Amino acid sequence: MRMLKITAAMLPAMKKRGERIPSLTAYDYPTARLLDEAGIPLILVGDSLGMVVLGYPDTTLVTMQEMEHHVRAVARAKPKALVAADLPYQSYQTPEAAVANSRRLVDAGAEAVKAEGGRVILPQVRAIISAKIPFIGHLGMLPQSIREEGRYHIKGKMEAERSALLEDAAALAEAGASAIVLELVTPAVAKEITDALDIPTIGIGSGPNCDGQILVTHDLIGTFPWFTPRFVQPALASLSLVQLDTAEQMRNAIVKWKGAVEGA
Ligand code: KIV
Repeated sequence: MRMLKITAAMLPAMKKRGERIPSLTAYDYPTARLLDEAGIPLILVGDSLGMVVLGYPDTTLVTMQEMEHHVRAVARAKPKALVAADLPYQSYQTPEAAVANSRRLVDAGAEAVKAEGGRVILPQVRAIISAKIPFIGHLGMLPQSIREEGRYHIKGKMEAERSALLEDAAALAEAGASAIVLELVTPAVAKEITDALDIPTIGIGSGPNCDGQILVTHDLIGTFPWFTPRFVQPALASLSLVQLDTAEQMRNAIVKWKGAVEGA
C-alpha cells in the first residue's frame, strides 16, 4: 500500500523522474480499495461506467447524477491514489457549465476532472483550471463523439490528424492540464506527443511509449465478457499477461450454487 497521497500536481514530477503511471478505472468502493492497495497511483471514475456497469450502449447516456453516485463510492475508499472523474457527455458545453459540473464531481470526492477534446474546449479547460480544479485532457478517439464518428478508430494516421493532435496536446498543456489521456492514437504520434510535453501522457491503445497506461478494469479482469476492445489482448500480451476470466469463474460458481440449492 502506498503511504503518500498522490495529487494531480505530482503527475508532471513523476514524468520528470521517469516514473510510469499505471492507471485503472473504478466505479465502486471495493475496486477502488483493491486498486489502491495494489499501489495504482491514478484511479479514474470513467464514463465507461455507462457500458461496463450500467448497460448503456455507449458513454453518451451517462448523467452527472450517475457520475456523482459512483465518484462518492470510490471516494469512500479514501484512496492514496489520485481520484479523477470524467465530466459526462454535454456537461461541459460552456465554461460556466464545465466549472459548475466539475465542482459537483469534486464535492462528490473527485480530485481531478477529465474531459474530451483539445482546442475546441479550451475556454472550458481554462475556466476549470482557473477554478483551481485539476484537469486531465483526453485526445485521440473520443468516446463521447461515437455517435458522430460512427466507430472507434485509430487517430494520427493522416498528417492533418497528427498535427491537430500535437497542437491540441500543446494547447492543453499550455492551459495547465496535469496529464493527457491518449486513446487509440498511433504509437508514433503518441510518442511524439509524449516527447514534446512536460506533463505525462496516459495511453490506451496508443502503444508503449506513453508515460502511463490506462485500462478499463473490467477489460483487465474479464468481468465484461461480451465486448473487449481489440487493443486489450495485445497490450496485455506485451506484458506477458492474459485477461483474467472472472466472468467464467462467476458463471461456474453461480451454476454450482444454483445446482446445489435445486438439488437440496
Ligand atoms: O471512461 C473511461 O474509462 C476512459 C478511459 C478508457 C480512459 O475515459
